[in-house]
Amino acid sequence: MHAYVLTAGCRSVDDLRLIERPVVNPGPGQVRIRLRAATLNARDRAILKGNYPPFAVTRDITPLSDGAGEVIAVGAGVTRFKAGDRVVAGFFQPKDGLGLDEGPVQLGGPLEGVLAEEIVLDQDGIEPIPGDLSFVEAACLPCAAMTAWNALMEAGGSVKPGDTVLALGTGGVSIIGLQIARAAGARVIVTSSSDAKIERAKTIGAFAGVNYRTHVAWEKEVLRLTGGRGADCILEVGGFGTFSHSLAALAPRGRIGLIGGFAGSVENLSFLRARRGSIHGIAVGTREMFQRMNHAFAVQGIKPVVDRVFPFAQAADAFRLQESGDFVGKIAVEIG
Ligand SMILES: NC(=O)c1ccc[n+]([C@@H]2O[C@H](COP(=O)([O-])OP(=O)(O)OC[C@H]3O[C@@H](n4cnc5c(N)ncnc54)[C@H](OP(=O)(O)O)[C@@H]3O)[C@@H](O)[C@H]2O)c1
Repeated sequence: MHAYVLTAGCRSVDDLRLIERPVVNPGPGQVRIRLRAATLNARDRAILKGNYPPFAVTRDITPLSDGAGEVIAVGAGVTRFKAGDRVVAGFFQPKDGLGLDEGPVQLGGPLEGVLAEEIVLDQDGIEPIPGDLSFVEAACLPCAAMTAWNALMEAGGSVKPGDTVLALGTGGVSIIGLQIARAAGARVIVTSSSDAKIERAKTIGAFAGVNYRTHVAWEKEVLRLTGGRGADCILEVGGFGTFSHSLAALAPRGRIGLIGGFAGSVENLSFLRARRGSIHGIAVGTREMFQRMNHAFAVQGIKPVVDRVFPFAQAADAFRLQESGDFVGKIAVEIG
């Protein structure tokens, strides 16, 4: 079977190679999957560039954490799946007998990833594809959608009808967050560097958008758009550069899902106290959350927004588009 690898010490998309690998038969409790689609996350770009502190590419490894496909064989003792089932991999995988909450490890580093024609996974590391989602749409769920769902619907409460949600930027987490928040009855404000992307976000259901390049103090626009109240829940994907603005845009008793990485210390935490707000650290989500989210996607018919789908042979172009920033929502690779 064919698989891509990032070569040890990789720094750019030129270090992505297509190789031939022997097929692996599933062991006890394992499932062999013919992968059909994969999607990219910001983490994959960081790994490719050797700029992801939790994981350095010191050996050749297949990239990407998020994939979906079809079961083609099951090992002894597998009870949850059979050949022909449509499945999506979880972001965290069980390993060495550890439960998912004890020692979760991720696909695409340190575990071999999903930019390949096949993968063998533990049956507890995969879930059925919800509803009638395509393989490409299902491959948007494990990291981006799970993270947004956790911040909006799990961490410290859940978004209610009539709430205002603020999503920073128009990338994978924020756009699927926009879709989830709309399904929960909230109105959504996005920020973006691009007016054209704001218009696109409005077609996906955003109530308003603020260009953070032309409105450097964009929190003031968020307050204006909400009659001075601010946002009840914020998807904080920006980190150090955006955090103080997000705090200032927070409604009384609002929640911030802390998603993007911090580059330094954070000021203005006393404002959070005065607002009686809360911040929740988000690390994608647990298997139970993944199951709750997938149920909601099936019932609500939520289809993740995918900007471009590249054929397997042109996977490198998917990384190039990600690097350009010229996309809204997710970027996918269709694997035959
Ligand atoms: N904690 C977790 O579990 C977790 C899980 C997933 C992702 N993350 C982190 O969350 C962040 C987003 O991930 P992603 O996969 O959604 O990334 P992505 O698809 O690459 O999207 C990034 C988007 O961020 C926006 N952006 C960049 N600088 C910004 C700024 N100063 N203010 C507002 N928006 C800005 C851009 O939007 P415009 O082009 O519209 O300006 C860009 O499209 C990354 O830092 C990632 O590492 C964390």
